[in-house]
Amino acid sequence: MKGLVLAGGKGSRLRPFTYSGAKQLVPIANTPVLHFPVRQLVEAGIDEIGIIVGDTGQQIREAMGDGAAFGARFTYIAQPEPLGIAHAVGIARPFLGEEPFILYLGDNVLSGGILGFASRFARSGAGAGVILKRVADPRAFGVAEMDGERLLRVVEKPAIPPSDLAVIGVYAFRPAVFDVIARQAPSPRGEFEIADSINGLLAVRSTVDVTLTDEYWIDTGKMEDMLHANQVILEEMPGCIDDSAIVQDSAMEGAISIGPGAVIEGCRLAGPLVIGADARLRGCLVGPHVAIGARCELTNVTIRNSIVMEDSAIAACPEVADSMIGRFVRVAGAPAGARLTLGDHSRMEAAE
Ligand code: TTP
Repeated sequence: MKGLVLAGGKGSRLRPFTYSGAKQLVPIANTPVLHFPVRQLVEAGIDEIGIIVGDTGQQIREAMGDGAAFGARFTYIAQPEPLGIAHAVGIARPFLGEEPFILYLGDNVLSGGILGFASRFARSGAGAGVILKRVADPRAFGVAEMDGERLLRVVEKPAIPPSDLAVIGVYAFRPAVFDVIARQAPSPRGEFEIADSINGLLAVRSTVDVTLTDEYWIDTGKMEDMLHANQVILEEMPGCIDDSAIVQDSAMEGAISIGPGAVIEGCRLAGPLVIGADARLRGCLVGPHVAIGARCELTNVTIRNSIVMEDSAIAACPEVADSMIGRFVRVAGAPAGARLTLGDHSRMEAAE
């Protein structure tokens, strides 16, 4: 079995972070989102992985490498334009060949991994496999119309959903899907939809396996989703303080991870939280649910439920919450209660 991870696309819902970089490299719990799909494929025994890239391809290649660091071999496949998920699958045909494959959207995270799903599909003779998850408001998703346990069709972003079962961003296919994709036309929103590929398989009486999951799943395409994913991944982390980190005159409770070379002085840390390598924190109240990237400097800051990416500096902020702060950002004196969304290289300074 091979893996195909989609890391192209426009990322318009995650601006400003996607002005300067790939959304799949935005970190949750200090780990680029794209690491999760790749790691889960490798855990499921799939090490031949194609990565679809678009405008941000160069950055993704530099960040991910040839796959050796993940125990995998990556083949990068350039998609000239983000014409849809089915289009991305179609252009990967030479890489995928005649093997069954798992398609994993590079901005999705399914907690608990895909080992069971992949091995069930490998044993089944089905043409495709989808994973369904009950959601409160299915209107933003591909939604399954069911007859008992059987999938009848997938309806993309329906105004009146036929069920509360969303199709999540992990799929399995056999090569028969390529014939369906070759016959597909763009949808009204101009994309080659993967929902149409699944419906096309059903129309030619191919079996589509259905797996219902209770696991946590998130499409990290929007900022609130990112912060929620950050919370969930932090909750799953056991906590680990690197031997080379220095923690002085500080109180800690809960699961706390501190990277090598970090220096924490006079702080109160309430886990779960993660602090990256060589970060420096002085006089701060941090947590819960905070991820602070490598080489950040925080001085006299209270911060909770937030992501601060690498190389940023924040000073004199009495209360920052629910914020996403990009790389190389400078914040000095944000007012109490500030909820910041700051793209890379932003500056925010309080008036004198
Ligand atoms: P989406 O989040 O559906 O699309 P998008 O990245 O264009 O985002 P937005 O709606 O915010 O503009 O894509 C899911 C994943 O698939 C994501 O990792 C991007 C990737 N993708 C491609 O690689 N090629 C494509 O043509 C599309 C549409 C998405």
